[in-house]
Amino acid sequence: MDPPRSTQGARSDELLELAQLVRRELSLREETPTGDWVEEIAHSLRTGARPGWYYPISEGAGLAFRSERDDHSFAHVHVETAPDAVDRAQALTEALVSTLPPTARSISVGFTGLPLAAEEELTARLARRPGSNVIRRYAMERPLRSRDGEGLPPVPDALQLVPVREVTLDALALLDQSAFRGTTDELLIGTDLKEYRRTLVALLEGATGRFLDEASTALYRSEPPALVGAILTCEKTPRHAAFQDFMVDPTLRGRGYGAYLLHWAMRALWALGYERVRLWVSASNASARRLYDSVGFSTTQTAVIYRWDRDPSAFGPRG
Ligand SMILES: CC(C)(COP(=O)(O)OP(=O)(O)OC[C@H]1O[C@@H](n2cnc3c(N)ncnc32)[C@H](O)[C@@H]1OP(=O)(O)O)[C@@H](O)C(=O)NCCC(=O)NCCS
Repeated sequence: MDPPRSTQGARSDELLELAQLVRRELSLREETPTGDWVEEIAHSLRTGARPGWYYPISEGAGLAFRSERDDHSFAHVHVETAPDAVDRAQALTEALVSTLPPTARSISVGFTGLPLAAEEELTARLARRPGSNVIRRYAMERPLRSRDGEGLPPVPDALQLVPVREVTLDALALLDQSAFRGTTDELLIGTDLKEYRRTLVALLEGATGRFLDEASTALYRSEPPALVGAILTCEKTPRHAAFQDFMVDPTLRGRGYGAYLLHWAMRALWALGYERVRLWVSASNASARRLYDSVGFSTTQTAVIYRWDRDPSAFGPRG
């Protein structure tokens, strides 16, 4: 099999067609990119503004692209299903990793197009490279029902609900940072407060779907004052919503606050007319998965993210 070609200078119609294949797969996962995503990706790949590699449609089709943010790279690999799809996906991933800029400490790569068994074969191959981690994620869903509107207990003892936009971004980012410390999700978001802040700004601005203020809330304790937890929700389609961020202060877990926030948000979503809610959770996040199981979520899809970290000795101390 030939190595993948650089997208720089490739034909626009070919890149547009490949980007459309990616967009279709992302839409099937209800992760539809917003705006003129297809055109923007194709343009940035062709001009070289964004690094990318591809296999033409006539050779089985495949597209890989990467973007840099501070010292981390985010990338996506898509291949169309075919007998050599795993080889193509591996070659595309190797192209992304082997050309990382020297300033990049790590890369996360998402995949689309591969059936589960092929995806497992691919990640087993990629995991052989030292510094690799494979993160499995599950999409979980739950229908919203009229009885979600009944029987919600009063706000837990001495706490109050506060609209998310009335909480400072820094307070929310700090809560996220402490809630996800030491979890697999930290590999995806990072440890940096700035990164959590940036993710929250994107969420509130609707980058992952219209932010639903009415189905998002923070839980506050006034004495002593503390932000206890929060749930942030957005619209994916006019009937379907998603929980995008959900966390409880690590020192206040196991008291039912998480379950309360989920029930509160599901009732709010039902009252707004949504039929279904979904979320993504890492396979290793046992307590969150148990909680979702217990309130009626079930797994509908899986995805993997390949994460590679450069040997830290290649860098000086983190600045
Ligand atoms: C997931 C998360 C929000 C749950 O918050 P929480 O407030 O601890 O949730 P709950 O208290 O409602 O439920 C958690 C556990 O406490 C138990 N519990 C609930 N109420 C309880 C009570 N009154 N007494 C004793 N235990 C109780 C639950 O049965 C559950 O037990 P389990 O983990 O053994 O299944 C929290 O663990 C968290 O912030 N995790 C990190 C961030 C994260 O992973 N977010 C989800 C990303 S998809």
